[in-house]
Amino acid sequence: MRAAIQNLEESKIREVANAGMGRGDVLAFWFGESDEVTPEFIRQAAIESLQRGETFYSHNLGLPELREAIAGYMSGLHGAIGVERIAVTSGGVNALMLAVQALVEAGDEVVAVTPVWPNLTAQPAIMGARLRCVPLQPVKGEWTLDLDALRAAVTPATRLLIVNSPNNPTGWTLTRAEQQAIVEHCRSTGTWILADEVYERLYYAGDTENGSAPSFLDVTEPDDRLVVVHSFSKSFLMTGWRLGWLVMPPSLTHHMGKLLEFNTSCASVFTQRAGVVAVQRTAEITPRVVAHLKACRDTLVPLLQAVPGVQVAPARGGMYAFFRLQGFDDSLDAAKRLVVEAGLGLAPGNAFGPEAQGWLRWCFASKDPGRLVEGVDRLKRWLAAP
Ligand SMILES: Cc1ncc(COP(=O)(O)O)c(C=O)c1O
Repeated sequence: MRAAIQNLEESKIREVANAGMGRGDVLAFWFGESDEVTPEFIRQAAIESLQRGETFYSHNLGLPELREAIAGYMSGLHGAIGVERIAVTSGGVNALMLAVQALVEAGDEVVAVTPVWPNLTAQPAIMGARLRCVPLQPVKGEWTLDLDALRAAVTPATRLLIVNSPNNPTGWTLTRAEQQAIVEHCRSTGTWILADEVYERLYYAGDTENGSAPSFLDVTEPDDRLVVVHSFSKSFLMTGWRLGWLVMPPSLTHHMGKLLEFNTSCASVFTQRAGVVAVQRTAEITPRVVAHLKACRDTLVPLLQAVPGVQVAPARGGMYAFFRLQGFDDSLDAAKRLVVEAGLGLAPGNAFGPEAQGWLRWCFASKDPGRLVEGVDRLKRWLAAP
């Protein structure tokens, strides 16, 4: 067994979920997914594909129809994005791993902006990279980037910069000006940018032309050293389908196809058929999902802000309320106690980076916002208990 694998940390979020195993009364907000089922017309496309007998492999890079549909969808958001830049993957996490496999040698230096979803820091570690973290800074419950600190951390020795914006867990989102500054800096150091933009549509600030979060695709050229990761999971309510995609420079795509062959060979075809319908009919899904998530955020955050000892700011994007709970400096311990003693399932902040020790993540993607209200009641009762 390689030391890098032996040293991988187990998921702290799973650890909390395991503490609640077998308890039907826990209100679970620990995982990053909506409790709403995938729209019927998307499921129907997969059913019809199976009924047609589409049970075979596809091209490594994905069905041509899906790559075309994704290129059209991305072009609608970001200006012309050619199909030659698209590869279909088995979920966003698979897309991230492929990108890291393609770009990082053992011993390479990788810089990541944290706190961040742990997969993004585990994947370079699996490849044997040396990881350097640039922590965001909390200011009155809102996490902010020190751009100078990031520029200082990314040097010509940095192979890859990993940024997730909108960010899981903090909701922090890069501005276009910050993206421009990062791109210029990485051009000067020769550093690749791996941009995890799976939450780009889940954006609530309302300060962009297309309503989505600012994207690195808007401030780069096709040949820039940029790989963008996307997913069907969040904007299309398709977590269990395991479908995502990559946008990359055209010169990389052929090689990514080879790498796909040795990872998954391809995403399953009936799933890809569902993906075609999802992106083509995004107008029937995503705006509704985003409006609902915004309503969920606007239900949860004011209630949390009214709880003594809680510090939280409304997320600009994503699907999480990330809050500091005063007096509870060990997030994992607090999250486990909340499950067992209050029946409330949250993710511990330190799962996302040591700087988020004392914080908790609450996924507000709840079909019934009443569950969020009940969850806050449980938190308040628990805090008030002797
Ligand atoms: C920041 C981030 N990136 C990528 C993913 C991967 O999503 P999936 O593998 O379901 O497409 C997630 C899922 O929670 C995420 O939070």
